Formats: sequence, C-alpha cells, structure tokens
Amino acid sequence: MKNLVKQAQQVLNKNWKDGFSVPSAKLYPFQWLWDSGFIAIGFAHYDMDKAEKEIATLLDAQWDNGFIPHIVFHTPSDTYFPGPEFHQSELHPLSSKKYKSTGMTQPPVTGFVLEEMYRISQDKNSTLAFIKSQIDKVFLNHEYFYKHRDPNNEGLVYIYHNWESGTDNSPIWDDIFATMNPPHYEFTRRDTTHVDAAERPTNREYDHYLHIINIAKEHNYSDEKIAELSPFLIQDPLFNTMLIKSNEALINLYEILGDNQDKIAQLKLWNQKAIGGMNTKLYHDELQVYTHFDVRNNRPIPFITSSSFAPIFANFVSQQRVENMLNIMLDKFGGEDKYLCASFDPTNERFDPKKYWRGPVWVNLNWMLYRGCRAYDYNTLAERIKKDTIEIVEKSGFYEYFDARKEIHISDKAGYGGGDFSWTAALLLDLIESDL
Ligand code: DGY
Repeated sequence: MKNLVKQAQQVLNKNWKDGFSVPSAKLYPFQWLWDSGFIAIGFAHYDMDKAEKEIATLLDAQWDNGFIPHIVFHTPSDTYFPGPEFHQSELHPLSSKKYKSTGMTQPPVTGFVLEEMYRISQDKNSTLAFIKSQIDKVFLNHEYFYKHRDPNNEGLVYIYHNWESGTDNSPIWDDIFATMNPPHYEFTRRDTTHVDAAERPTNREYDHYLHIINIAKEHNYSDEKIAELSPFLIQDPLFNTMLIKSNEALINLYEILGDNQDKIAQLKLWNQKAIGGMNTKLYHDELQVYTHFDVRNNRPIPFITSSSFAPIFANFVSQQRVENMLNIMLDKFGGEDKYLCASFDPTNERFDPKKYWRGPVWVNLNWMLYRGCRAYDYNTLAERIKKDTIEIVEKSGFYEYFDARKEIHISDKAGYGGGDFSWTAALLLDLIESDL
C-alpha cells in the first residue's frame, strides 16, 4: 500500500502546473472544474498548500454572475480540441476578464471539497482561514444556479450540455441526440491521437456536442435563451446531488465560521426544495432508482447508471430506498465476475465496457458511492467498493477509467482513456486513508 501512496503522489506532483493541476498531460492540458475539486482532496492529505491553490485558482476564474466554468484555459495548447477559440467565453458580458474559459459548467463540487479539506486538515485554524477567504464565492455560485438554472422553480437545476454532466457520452443522451440533426462540422479531433478511438466518443457525437455550444454562442451564453432554445436541457441526479451535498457542506462550514445566519437560512431553503425535487421528480418508481429528466422533451430517461445511485452520497434518501437501490446495484452491476461500479447498466444493450461513460468504472463515482454506503451504514458494501477500487488501480495503473470485467484485468489492458490520471490518484489516496 505504501508503494501505491507514493505512486499516487507522484502522479499528482507530475500533473501540478504551479497553481492548478491538469487531469492528464496531453489529453486534458488545462484546469477542469470537478477534476480540480477531487484533486484538492488528494493534495489535502500531504500538501495542503497545493490543495488550497488548486481551489483558489479555480475560484479566481469565476464570472461576475457567480458562474464557474468547466475548463479554465490557463496556457495555450495544441493537444486539445475544442480550445478557447471555439468556446469564446468572452461572448458573455459577465465572463472573466482574466481567464479564457468555456461557457459551460460542471458538477458543483467546490462546497463539499472545502468541507473535505477541513476534515482532512492537520491544522484546522489555518484551513478555516482559507475557507473563510473562499466560501462566499461558492455561495455565489450556488445562488447563480438557483437564480438562472431553475426557471420553473423546482429546486432542480438544469444542465444544457452533456459535458456539464461530467458523464460525457453516457447512453442516456442517445435519445436526445436522436432528436437533433446537427451539421457535419469540419474539425480535427486531438483526443483520439492520445487515446484509442474505441475508448472515446464518435465523430458524430462531437457534431452534437459542438452544435449545442454553437446555439449557446449565438445567444452569447445567455442562460435565459439557453433555457428556451437548447435541444439538450436535463435535470441530472448526479449534478443535483452534488449541489445538495455542497449546500450542506456550506451550512456546516458557515456554522463553524459563525456570523452567517442569512446565508445558512438561504442554503437550508434551497436544500429543502432541492431534496423535494430529487425525491419526487427524479425518483423513478418503476426502476426504484434516481434517473435523469429530459426537460426539453418533458420525459424521464429510464436508464440505470452509476449516477442513479449517487444520491446516497448526500443525506436525503430514505432507508427503504437506499436498501432497494443497493440491491439493484449488486444485482445488475455487482456480480462476482465484476468490479463495482460500472458507469452504465451492464445488463442493458447499450452497455460498452471500454467506451468512456458507456460502461467503464470511474474512481470518482466509486469514491462517492463508498462514502454514501458508509453514511448509511452499509459497511460490507463500502468495504467491497474500496477494495475493488484499489485493486483495479493496483492491477492496471492510474488510468482515467477501467473495465468492470475482472477477467480483462488478468488477460488484457483494462485501464482506458488518459494515463496518470489525477483524480484517480487523488481519490485513491483518500480511500486508502479511510478507516474501513
Ligand atoms: C473531453 O474533452 O472529453 C472533456 O471531458 C470535456 O469536458
């Protein structure tokens, strides 16, 4: 285990760029929002200074309306497409004047990451001083979401692009893309020069991705116009769970800091409504898990993904539902021949064991599920998720995602996507340090 800790630290140190980290050297050469959050949790275990800088740099790129972009383009790079010239964040009147970025966001991790840093910290006073200097920016970000991303006042915020979900090419989006007919764009993919194309989205999928961005750009990334016009408009259970978890974290941290009663009251109101929305609109009675809702086409998306179980990461699921959800996870995703937890239902015909978010295991989702199982006292399952996660990394390396089929880890290459992947290293460090 000592060796694994050392290797994980080496990966993080290598991807550190003096103020922020890249997720993986050539494949993702900038700062990504949710990656940064998970990376900070890893750094917190052995270099709090870097953890703090990681988050401070990310929040420094916040827009004047509270929005935090999904990629901050710190330095030019010709190994990634689409770069800053395509995204053109400057179209939005309130975008950062200091950093070029995308005009979309990613799951709101920063709130709960601050709380994790406080939990891990050996010097609580110093970490609290850092949190005090940053926490209002995170509050502003949550205010942005509830003001601009919840037009029908349901407590559930929408995402307008599959890249905002973080689960980029999940089969859950297939039926939405089938309603669109984007042009064939002329572009040169960079990702498939670093990673086998079989492990990445198709060119036609990229047409859809670029098309949605072009619609947003035509309206200078106006939230109101996007809500009206984007063909992709989703309420995502993973995204909203993370926002609820981050609301909860901000409440806890403001209580420790003192003197913030108005903000605490507001966060509680947001959460009350959000939890109501999650437990009614995003819970699928027949499937007995949480599912995505397609706002544009007004229908639930009836597929089980690892995001369907993510709500156990926040504390709002009834015991009965947790029991059912975890049984479904074990039944469909957790056979003895498999590592937990595939990103998409392995019993569904759309499952693909190698292709990015269409099936492989991701360490960040495993980390959330592990924490959820611990919180609800499913310790045997928590232990299994931890063991599975450590084992896939030990056997196959610090990859971006992994094959869920155990036999592949013995007979073939079973780690996919980018190598020396930062959040795999960071969250492995946290898992190893966890007491169970
Ligand atoms: C990519 O380029 O695939 C990224 O995940 C987008 O965020």
